[in-house]
Amino acid sequence: MKKDNIIIFDTTLRDGEQSPGASMNIEEKIKIAKCLAKLNVDVIEAGFAFSSPGDFEAVKRVGMEVKGPTICSLARCKPEDIDTAWEALKHAEKPRIHTFISTSDIHLKYQFRMTREQALERAVEMVARAKGYVDDVEFSPMDATRTEPSYLYQMVEAVIEAGATTVNIPDTVGYSMPYEFGKLIRGIKETVPNINKAVISVHCHNDLGLATANSLAALQNGAMQVECTINGLGERAGNAALEEIVMAVKTRKDFFFLGTQANTKEIMKASTMVSRITGINVQPNKAIVGANAFAHESGIHQDGVLKEKETYEIMSPTSIGLKKNTLVMGKHSGRHAFRKHTEEMGYNFSDDEINSLFERFKLLADQKKEIFEEDIEAIIADDIYRISEHYNLKHLLVSSGTEQKPQANITLAIDGKDHEGEGAGDGPVDAAFMLIQKMTDTNYKLLSYSVKSITGGTDALGEVSVRLKHNDNIVHGNGSDTDIILASAKAYVNALNRMHYKKTKKKQRSV
Ligand code: KIV
Ligand code: ZN
Repeated sequence: MKKDNIIIFDTTLRDGEQSPGASMNIEEKIKIAKCLAKLNVDVIEAGFAFSSPGDFEAVKRVGMEVKGPTICSLARCKPEDIDTAWEALKHAEKPRIHTFISTSDIHLKYQFRMTREQALERAVEMVARAKGYVDDVEFSPMDATRTEPSYLYQMVEAVIEAGATTVNIPDTVGYSMPYEFGKLIRGIKETVPNINKAVISVHCHNDLGLATANSLAALQNGAMQVECTINGLGERAGNAALEEIVMAVKTRKDFFFLGTQANTKEIMKASTMVSRITGINVQPNKAIVGANAFAHESGIHQDGVLKEKETYEIMSPTSIGLKKNTLVMGKHSGRHAFRKHTEEMGYNFSDDEINSLFERFKLLADQKKEIFEEDIEAIIADDIYRISEHYNLKHLLVSSGTEQKPQANITLAIDGKDHEGEGAGDGPVDAAFMLIQKMTDTNYKLLSYSVKSITGGTDALGEVSVRLKHNDNIVHGNGSDTDIILASAKAYVNALNRMHYKKTKKKQRSV
């Protein structure tokens, strides 16, 4: 690793998954982890092994199947957490245990019910315990930005003495201002006597919209690791967005004199994958990965860009892997050409997967004259990311018009057995959703419903996203088709399958 390269620590699978409704299953986590490895991040925090059997399995499988980055598990400063983290990580090529305890008086008094001395003693003990398993140990003093600095310095010194190789300073509640946060990092660098034995890391939340700014201020003041997530996912308002950190450091190398080893051309792919898997759409004006991030609307800007891109573009769309809508295939393309194209797009599917995708591609090519790369991405998302199907939509017929109350006829396989039904609704989508609810004997709250067109034209694929809530469970579902009523029904059934999966999953251990 180059001396001036910062360490990109991705926590999409851990803190990112803490975004409301963003839970992912193991296969989805592995897909994202492989995508992060292609992006060449340095560390992947794959989960919090002790928190649930699902997280344990995710850390274990990411550690066994994803090569390249260091694989990390979060662990509270408790012996059972540290031991479980190691149990999950022990097969990984490059394992890291990340342990944390709060250090602010408000957390210690009300949440941990500990004195400062007790927290310090526990942190030292648990770092030493983790060190007994693995050399690479990270420690986080949670709520560091609301911790009394002299105690924070004392804690950082003690955990480094106990063996921590990375000390991560979290702005847990997104409270700090960039100048202040930079000063805190500088204070640690200049005051803690053994600080040169560890890497200073930062972990910033976005409650005041300052997560990226705070992380960058920390880099100017001696931090060399940034914890971040794809699309800025994370608890509450999220974490610093990986794409913003990486592109800021790259675009303003003249200012930071730092670099990363990230392969920025994989950013767009990672952003799309995370958004599809979690069902959390990226806002159009989101920096770097939003749909409008490279769109020039004003006449003056368009004129400038046509004459010379650099007039209004500080980075090129291709540097994050954005391509123009490229026409890729047509009705007559064969299976071999299709496989080759998916390989060029960076996928490596099994024969069965290719067969299933190719069927969908052929159906689409019959409905749509031109097939673009985005269409193939949507087919892949629809087909491969589909969760195991308890409910399977086999047939849908919806009729509606100016003189007719919308009516739906549906055949739905439930646990392998076909059921037929018919029903009416206020609109065609409502008729389909109401009937599916009735047939599945479910009554979940529809939190959101959105449709977007994948490419232009009236024959474009429509991608529908729905979000359902039942008690504390929130799930999303996606579906795509040239017929948006069918896409809607597919998305609804996909969400029901996720809810079913979530409910049948073993009860999570509480943390
Ligand atoms: O926000 C936070 O403080 C965390 C820690 C566990 C690092 O996520
Ligand atoms: Zn966090």
